[in-house]
Amino acid sequence: MNKPARMSTMPRDGTTSLVSGEARCPAPSVQEIIRSDAKPAPAVLTHEHYEFLGDADIPVARYTSAIFFEREMELIWPKTWQWACRDEHIPEAGDYYVYEVGPFSIIVVRQRDESVKAFVNSCLHRGTKLRPCEGEGHARELRCPYHGWTWALDGGLKKVPCAWDFPHVDPESYHLPEVATGRWGGFVFVNLDPDAKPLEDYLGVLPDHFADWGLEERYVDLHMAKELPCNWKTAQEAFLESYHVLETHPQLMAGVGDANVQYDCYGDHVSRFYAAGGVNSPHMEEQLSEQELVNMMLVGDRSVLDDMNVGEGETARIVMARFLRRTLGEKYGTDLSRFSDSEMIDTIEYHLFPNMVLFPGLSLPMVYRFRPIGMDPNRTLFEILFLRPLPDDRDPPEPAQVFHVKEEESYSIVPGMDPAFGAVYDQDTNNLRSQQKGYLNALHSGRKTGQTLGNYQEVRIRHFNATIDKYLAGEAIVP
Ligand code: FES
Repeated sequence: MNKPARMSTMPRDGTTSLVSGEARCPAPSVQEIIRSDAKPAPAVLTHEHYEFLGDADIPVARYTSAIFFEREMELIWPKTWQWACRDEHIPEAGDYYVYEVGPFSIIVVRQRDESVKAFVNSCLHRGTKLRPCEGEGHARELRCPYHGWTWALDGGLKKVPCAWDFPHVDPESYHLPEVATGRWGGFVFVNLDPDAKPLEDYLGVLPDHFADWGLEERYVDLHMAKELPCNWKTAQEAFLESYHVLETHPQLMAGVGDANVQYDCYGDHVSRFYAAGGVNSPHMEEQLSEQELVNMMLVGDRSVLDDMNVGEGETARIVMARFLRRTLGEKYGTDLSRFSDSEMIDTIEYHLFPNMVLFPGLSLPMVYRFRPIGMDPNRTLFEILFLRPLPDDRDPPEPAQVFHVKEEESYSIVPGMDPAFGAVYDQDTNNLRSQQKGYLNALHSGRKTGQTLGNYQEVRIRHFNATIDKYLAGEAIVP
C-alpha cells in the first residue's frame, strides 16, 4: 500500500485540500471543542497524531480467502500479544483460564507465588487438550483426561502412569511448552512466539495514555459473546470508524460529533478515535441549542431536568459531565471528581493490534475482543465487556460470567445491556452480514474487488491493514 511518510496539520476552512489526507469536516474539531470544557482534558487527549497512509484500495479477497486466512494464522496470531483473561478471573493459585483463537488453545495458570504462567493446552503424550474448551476453572495439577499424564501448576511433568513403559520420557524435556505472558491494566496477555519482545514494548503509547485511567482498578460488570457471520477483520473494522453513524445509526446523531471525530495512529499496534459528546452532529440540519442538547440526552431521566439548566458561559458538555460525575460516582460507590469533562462524556476508543478495543471513558467503559473461530475465515467471536470502577468501600465483585447471544438474537437480551445500546450493535451486525456476502459478490462479479477508504475517517482501517501486511511480510514492527 502507498505510504508517504508525512505528518499533517490542517486547515479547517471547509474547502477541499489538494493535499491528500488534509481535508477535514468543517465543523469544530475535537480539540477545539474540548478547549471550552470546565475541567480540562489530560495531556494525552490534547494532541493529534494523524498520518496520511495512502489511498489505494484494500482487496476484498483478504476477507474471504482461505489462503490469506491461513497466512494470518501462521504469521499474525502466533506472533502477537493478545489478552487472554482478566487478573480477577484467576485470583488463587491453581485457578486457570483457557484462551482460544483460531486453532490455538492456551491455558493460563495462577502460580503459588501469585505470578502467572501459560502453556500450550495439549498433552505431550498423544496431544489431547488438557482442558477441553475455553473458560475458567481450578486445579491442583494439570492432568490429561485420556491416560492421566499429569503436570504440576508450573508445567513440570509430575506423573506418567505405567512409567516403566516410557523409559525414553525424560521429565526434563517433557515440561509443558511455555507461552510468554505479560500483565497490563488488569489484563493477562499471552504470546505464542518464543522470541516475543516484552509486552511493555508491544503496547507502545498505551501505558502512558492509560496511566491515570486505572483499568486495573475496574471489574468486569458485563461480559457477552456473539458469533458474527463475517471475517474477524470485517467485524473489527466496523468499530474503527464513525463514518457509518450517519447511515447506520441515525438515532445517535443528536448529541455526538460523528463527522468531526478525531483519528490518531501510534506506531504499528495502536490507533485511537476520539468523539466529542454533548455536541450536535455536523450532519444535523437543525442544530440544537446547548439546553436542548442537555434535555435530549436526559430523555430517559426527565426527573433531573430541573437542576440541569445550562448556566451562563456553560455548554451542554459541562452540564452533562457534571451530572455523570455525580450520578455515576454514586452508582459505582467511588469518587469520580478527578476526571475531566472529556473523560466523563466523550467516546475515546483505542485499538491494540490484532484484536483488542478499549474505551477508557467512564460513561462508555467497554472492551471489545474479536477472534477468528477455528479455521473459518467467515466466522468471528465478538465479545463486549463493561469495565466499571471498583467501589471504594466494598470488596471487588466477581467478574461477570460470559453471556452468549446467538447470531439471530438481539444484543438487547444481555442482562445489564441498555436495549437502545443493544439495538446499535444489532444495526452493526446487519451490516457485517451484508458486507461479508457483498465481498463474495464483488469477487465473483469481478467488477470492483477492492474497498475504497476515506483518507481521514477510515485511516484506522488502513493502519490496521498496513500492520497486517507488515506481519505477513515479516517486516520490522514499530511499537
Ligand atoms: Fe494425554 Fe494420553 S493423550 S495422557
